[in-house]
Amino acid sequence: MCGIIGFVGSQQAAPILLNGLKRLEYRGYDSAGIAVIDNGELIIRRSVGKLSQLDALLAEQPVGGTIGIGHTRWATHGRPSEQNAHPHRSGDVVIVHNGIIENYLALKHRLEAQGYRFDSETDTEVIAHLVAAALTRGRTLAQAVREAAQDLQGSYAIAALSVAEPATIVTTRSGCPLVMAHNEQGSFLASDVTPLLAHSRDVVYLEDGEIGILTPERLAVVDEAGQAVDRPLVRIDWDAEAAEKGGYPDFMVKEIHEQPRVIADTLRGRYRYDSGEADLPDLAMTAEELIHARRIWIVACGTSWHAGLVGKYLFEEMIRKPVQVDIGSEFRYREPMIQKDDLFVAISQSGETADTLEAAREAKKHGARVLAIVNVVGSTLAREADGVIYTRCGPEISVASTKAFTGQVIALYLLALHIGRVRGILSAEEGRWWLDQYLMIPSRVEHILKREADLRSIAERFYTKRNFLYLGRGINYPIALEGALKLKEISYIHAEGYAAGEMKHGPIALIDEEMPVVVLAPRDRLYEKTVNNLMEVRARNAPVIALVTEGDQELAHLAEAVFPIPHVHPLLSPVLFAVALQLLAYHIAVLRGLDVDRPRNLAKCVTVE
Ligand code: F6R
Repeated sequence: MCGIIGFVGSQQAAPILLNGLKRLEYRGYDSAGIAVIDNGELIIRRSVGKLSQLDALLAEQPVGGTIGIGHTRWATHGRPSEQNAHPHRSGDVVIVHNGIIENYLALKHRLEAQGYRFDSETDTEVIAHLVAAALTRGRTLAQAVREAAQDLQGSYAIAALSVAEPATIVTTRSGCPLVMAHNEQGSFLASDVTPLLAHSRDVVYLEDGEIGILTPERLAVVDEAGQAVDRPLVRIDWDAEAAEKGGYPDFMVKEIHEQPRVIADTLRGRYRYDSGEADLPDLAMTAEELIHARRIWIVACGTSWHAGLVGKYLFEEMIRKPVQVDIGSEFRYREPMIQKDDLFVAISQSGETADTLEAAREAKKHGARVLAIVNVVGSTLAREADGVIYTRCGPEISVASTKAFTGQVIALYLLALHIGRVRGILSAEEGRWWLDQYLMIPSRVEHILKREADLRSIAERFYTKRNFLYLGRGINYPIALEGALKLKEISYIHAEGYAAGEMKHGPIALIDEEMPVVVLAPRDRLYEKTVNNLMEVRARNAPVIALVTEGDQELAHLAEAVFPIPHVHPLLSPVLFAVALQLLAYHIAVLRGLDVDRPRNLAKCVTVE
């Protein structure tokens, strides 16, 4: 996730900016840069890789000046490179930006027609040109940033500098956080409070649409109409470590709570509502290719494989396309009957998982078209694939994958819609209907997160148990697998996920009063069958934890604990069940006193076989 820092005051800016960027390192980044104004000259230093590279560059080519902005970039548009690193310049203006500009292509075409040249592949550069264009119309920097923001669709936090006003930083935001602070040395801004704590504990949070104006003497906030806003100071009591986690005790729970935003970001700008279509420009596959693809293969490992299994149920039901799902390490060592023109979808958070990468290479050798659903821009898988859908999760720091999983499932929803529309299986009206359902998901997830305390209470009742069984059917069978995986990897409790109908073929022998059984029982066409499985469990005295559709009273007296899930179309329910099970596993692990972010024996990225 990108980070922003800015300073104007009586001290040298570069060391303050660099220290601030170091405090933002925890967010993950692939390149970094700063811009300062020194004696009326705008100077930019940028480098790819670790901040130590930027540090070395600044040691070699030092910069002076008491005003500057800095940025750590986590690529979303364009690979990690010096050219794509921020700050971005247009004439005497320089910009740093967090977020995603949805309409950047339209703006880019407009600006190119006006003679602006683009040096990067980023969406950010349009903002620099828009601000520069407004300045040529005689605007102040604050007015120029306000006018530029009126053209932007998407999410952003921006900071801007202009040689024309060498003692002012202007900032604005929409949907991305931006915080400011002031002390006797000057004014500071950042994308979160972490780097500000070294300078002040009293901060000002900018609200969407507001403009922050920072000078050495003061901070000012104006609204969209240019009217002064009196924004109160907020006292921050967190220490730096707590601030990195946004006030949450661990990265895992922070990342679980980021999911409404991740889902909204992964959908953002990727559909055309009027025609009910998905808009996936990096897919690099023609309609013809998608129509002629005989079969879809999905290959991944671990949690990403569970997302792939959700994809199988989704594609087969929603767009009637046969799908074969494989684990990376299995696919690469058997003789898969993959053919030229098949569509091969590799799913990976990191884009570096050895087994998934090798499977994708194998598929390429057979002439399949390889599409990557991946989180890390510029990762090996993203580079080697023919096309990409990036999940826009930001870095996932906790070893156990949570938000990456939901991002992957959302990317599969978009892909299903795209293929469905291209193949004519879905009409424009049906496409719009699905989009309406997709767009509802963030608020439904929010609803679950608000009831975290209920899941914590369930965890309190069962966290000492030694074995758990998770049962699900249909599209929620992969979620039973995922729920069990989350529990085992962070709590070290033995847990198994099973297709509910398969229980009687073996695992039923394990069931007794010591084995909690988590049953996913949405009100779908398989509901009655799932209830029957639940009865079989009850008959053997096992405690049942039932996750049911909101309003379902029937299971209340049959289960030890019930957690209601908001109503959504059954094909979209996996995201909601997954979030609830993430929280259940998280609280069980916390109650057992374990380090949830760094479970034993596990690595975040498995680059070996
Ligand atoms: C589980 C988990 C792993 C990963 C797996 C694949 O919480 O994180 O099972 O899902 O190692 O990793 P990626 O998605 O990076 O290929």
